[in-house]
Amino acid sequence: MSLAGKKVVVVGGSSGIGLATAEQAKALGAEVVIASRSAEKLKAAADKIGAKGIVADATSDSSIVDLFKACGLVDHVVVTAAQLKSGPFKTVSMDDVRSTFEGKFWGAWRVARAADIRPGGSLTIVSGFLSLRPRPNSAIVSAANGALESLTRALALELAPVRVNCVSPGIIDTPIRAAMPEAARKEMLAKTAAGLPVQRVGEAEDIAMQIHAFIANPFASGAIVYIDGGGLVV
Ligand SMILES: NC(=O)c1ccc[n+]([C@@H]2O[C@H](COP(=O)([O-])OP(=O)(O)OC[C@H]3O[C@@H](n4cnc5c(N)ncnc54)[C@H](OP(=O)(O)O)[C@@H]3O)[C@@H](O)[C@H]2O)c1
Repeated sequence: MSLAGKKVVVVGGSSGIGLATAEQAKALGAEVVIASRSAEKLKAAADKIGAKGIVADATSDSSIVDLFKACGLVDHVVVTAAQLKSGPFKTVSMDDVRSTFEGKFWGAWRVARAADIRPGGSLTIVSGFLSLRPRPNSAIVSAANGALESLTRALALELAPVRVNCVSPGIIDTPIRAAMPEAARKEMLAKTAAGLPVQRVGEAEDIAMQIHAFIANPFASGAIVYIDGGGLVV
């Protein structure tokens, strides 16, 4: 597949799955714009892959409108932006659960409204395995992921002929767990890997490959694909 002549915007493109997606898009010949909040992180990522970086915050209506005004008409948009704050259902603060939904769910909503995507182009949303396999202390993330999967189906109708799809990752080793103590992070990843049919956790590139499959396949719309190393069948 070639993306020569195509413009791809990745909101959340300065790290992890978004950065891997942007890097693959660049390698396929696309003009790539990455967006995130931290100007410093964004510059380092944009310089590394040869993309354009635009500072934008998915929790702000005006910031996302300004981002897509600056981008103009685009071919493919991917939203990976999220900062998750969860905790025990009865005690987690309402500020934390609201901010999780504000970034992850309303962020994708804002992007879908503001982006001017060419007919036949695509929007790819990223949810997560917790929608189907909840774990203790993460109800808000389960709910946001489930809502994004419903939103995907609704937008596949309403934004047609733009195609809208969603990838739901399992456990992927990205900077999203940078705040975890290193030993605990490694132990968690090793334990997860041992329990999966594929015997490893995911890499950002694994999810980026699925995002590019959605971008490339003109018959893909309203699809939700779980890329989790077989996590749903164990
Ligand atoms: N990694 C996993 O195990 C896993 C599993 C299931 C689902 N997911 C989902 O996959 C997506 C990507 O995760 P990841 O692991 O790639 O995370 P990551 O490495 O932490 O990257 C998140 C990116 O989003 C940006 N971002 C965060 N909040 C933002 C906001 N309000 N506005 C704009 N940009 C924002 C961050 O940059 P700035 O800090 O500069 O804003 C960063 O570029 C998330 O939706 C996550 O929930 C991940």
